Amino acid sequence: ADLTSLNTLNVESVAEYYCKVSSIDQLFDVIAFARRHDLVLHVLGGGSNVILPSFMSGVVVHMAIMGRDVQQIDHNRAEVVVGAGENWHQLVLFTLQQGYPGLENLSLIPGTVGAAPVQNIGAYGVEIKDSLVEVTAIDLKNETPSLITYNNAQLEFEYRNSLFKKNPGRFIITSVRLKLDKRSTLKTGYGDISERLIGQEVNAESVSQAVIQARESKLPNVAEIPNAGSFFKNPVVAREKLESLQAEFPQIISYKVDDEHYKLAAGWLIQQAGWKGYRNEVVGIHDKQALVLINHNHGKAQDIYDLAEQVRDSVNKKYGVVLEVEPVSL
Ligand code: EPU
Repeated sequence: ADLTSLNTLNVESVAEYYCKVSSIDQLFDVIAFARRHDLVLHVLGGGSNVILPSFMSGVVVHMAIMGRDVQQIDHNRAEVVVGAGENWHQLVLFTLQQGYPGLENLSLIPGTVGAAPVQNIGAYGVEIKDSLVEVTAIDLKNETPSLITYNNAQLEFEYRNSLFKKNPGRFIITSVRLKLDKRSTLKTGYGDISERLIGQEVNAESVSQAVIQARESKLPNVAEIPNAGSFFKNPVVAREKLESLQAEFPQIISYKVDDEHYKLAAGWLIQQAGWKGYRNEVVGIHDKQALVLINHNHGKAQDIYDLAEQVRDSVNKKYGVVLEVEPVSL
């Protein structure tokens, strides 16, 4: 099967075996098939955070298990159990329509619900871990595959990281349970968002709209310019490192993580290293947000890795900071 239209970087890729899976039973069947034939399994969700090779050996499981089950707890609280194949942004809109704030800052993040906990999706001061109760998944390490439920504390969530991301290929997420509370406080502290809310009534809907506008203004639409969102993580450095960087680069942008650690804005580092708007024949760096690598002319995985390496090298030479790639290589 051709996966080119199933990944937002639009990398040409062909799968040895491909199966769109819309039920748990079907998923167990595919796992049994892969085991019988000694094939590796790869899970594909929305394809918005992956770099695919030209040929994917093994079985690509295209996750399409659907369902949104709202369970009322009391007057203010509910939990929603969502199938891994549901679209994340549609879920956010659905919870807002149901009258629950909480996910509005995560509006317009591409991809599926099942992929969301893997990288602990986050934007504008909110991460999915803040609302996540538990995840149900299959651990492929077990001889007999079965559904296992992991609670929030077991999932080792960190900035753009989780148990799932630390163990590539080991788990297949089937559903996610989120908690919703009508009394959730809105988080509008982020400059990009607070500016867009000036003169407006501040509620979950208007915050969601502000987030959508902020994202649309900076992040390229995948339908026009193939990309995978932020291509690098914002690097975390020790306080002493930040201080020595500040002495040399007073404009550097940083956010406090804790007393000893600070996160640097990788987009700023990449822009200052001269990459913003760079393009070669096939790939480039977005002109409105230097953290986004674009595939404007049918680049393959190798073209993407080559440019990423050049950017990493130049940032490392200039600042002594090593950038980590965010999307997953399948
Ligand atoms: N900046 C630059 N030049 C650039 C890009 C950014 O100077 O080319 C500066 C901005 O001016 C700003 C700071 O860097 O002062 C941070 O930029 P921005 O607010 O755009 O956020 P980011 O740190 O670049 C992160 C997430 C995004 C998320 C935004 C908003 C990561 C890797 N990325 O980007 O997530 O939407 O914050 O919260 O943490 C994604 O993961 O795919 C993604 C888009």
